[in-house]
Amino acid sequence: MAHPPHPTPHDRHTSDDRHTSDDRHTCDDGRPQGPGHGHGHAHGHDTDIDWAEMAPHLEAQAELFTPLYERALSWLGKEVTEPGLIVDAGSGPGVVSTLFAETFPGARVMAVDGSAPLLERARQRAERLGHGDRFGTLAGELPGVLQQLDYPADLLWAGRSLHHLGDQRAALTAFAERLAPGGTLAIMEGGLPSRFLPRDLGFGRPGLEARLDALQEEWFAQMRADLPGSVDEAEDWAALLGAAGLRHARSRSFLLDLPAPASDRARSYVVATLSRLRDGFGDSLDPGDRATLDRLLDPQDEAGVHRRADVFVLAAHTVHTAVKPV
Ligand SMILES: C[S@@+](CC[C@H](N)C(=O)[O-])C[C@H]1O[C@@H](n2cnc3c(N)ncnc32)[C@H](O)[C@@H]1O
Repeated sequence: MAHPPHPTPHDRHTSDDRHTSDDRHTCDDGRPQGPGHGHGHAHGHDTDIDWAEMAPHLEAQAELFTPLYERALSWLGKEVTEPGLIVDAGSGPGVVSTLFAETFPGARVMAVDGSAPLLERARQRAERLGHGDRFGTLAGELPGVLQQLDYPADLLWAGRSLHHLGDQRAALTAFAERLAPGGTLAIMEGGLPSRFLPRDLGFGRPGLEARLDALQEEWFAQMRADLPGSVDEAEDWAALLGAAGLRHARSRSFLLDLPAPASDRARSYVVATLSRLRDGFGDSLDPGDRATLDRLLDPQDEAGVHRRADVFVLAAHTVHTAVKPV
């Protein structure tokens, strides 16, 4: 295991912050949740993402998903014992980075992201939670920015960030190069589309969420096609991890199961997510589905998600790991 000195907060900021262009998409289970005002197009929708603008949603989402992350990290902890340096590549506002700091009290954690404002939130969060002395940030474009790490990582985590890089195969190779011998690469990619409501709502045509999934799939494909240096790649993660020179590929899925009645926090998340879908895909829905979504989002409507009793959150995310040969 590498045992680098504790990174100082702010120890590595670059000025590269290209991920703050004007837009507002978000990811839930690795899927976009609505287009904004960038310049890519999927059925007329934009595919650029303003990550800094998404900070509150990314934070709320990762906080709600904390039980899922805790189980994923505890599973990782059985494979990766006493890591010296953990790198969170594409950390966003650092909710998961700080969970790493909590789960691995002997480790230094380096949050890496293209958005300096998100990293600032990550740093503040680490300070607030008492992990500031072993938490650092590094701002810049992945995967190249990882060259600036002073030490190889014992655990490199990329949670729902790899699919935002044009050449995923090249990125995995670059991630693998930054691992210490025996180090583990863990990516969270794929899983299942989340569900918040029964198939039949009691009004409208049943299956609204499945039709929204289909629109998001199209958006996702276009978002990938519009990325700089975009390369089509079959998403066989075990094969790609192997091609990056790693061994012992494993995959495991983790569930977030928050049954009805929803907590205020879960309900707010559902409202925020459906609102983004309405903003992003409303024009692509048929008039019936658009009316159903509008009714679901009406705070006064007893059948809307603000008030109905049967709102829940059910999500599954998959983690794929592999180890660098010693
Ligand atoms: C969907 S968010 C995931 C955030 C966090 N890992 C989580 O699971 O909550 C994707 C993150 O990847 C970062 N990102 C996307 N493309 C990037 C790039 N090319 N270089 C560096 N960071 C990038 C974004 O700024 C954003 O914080």
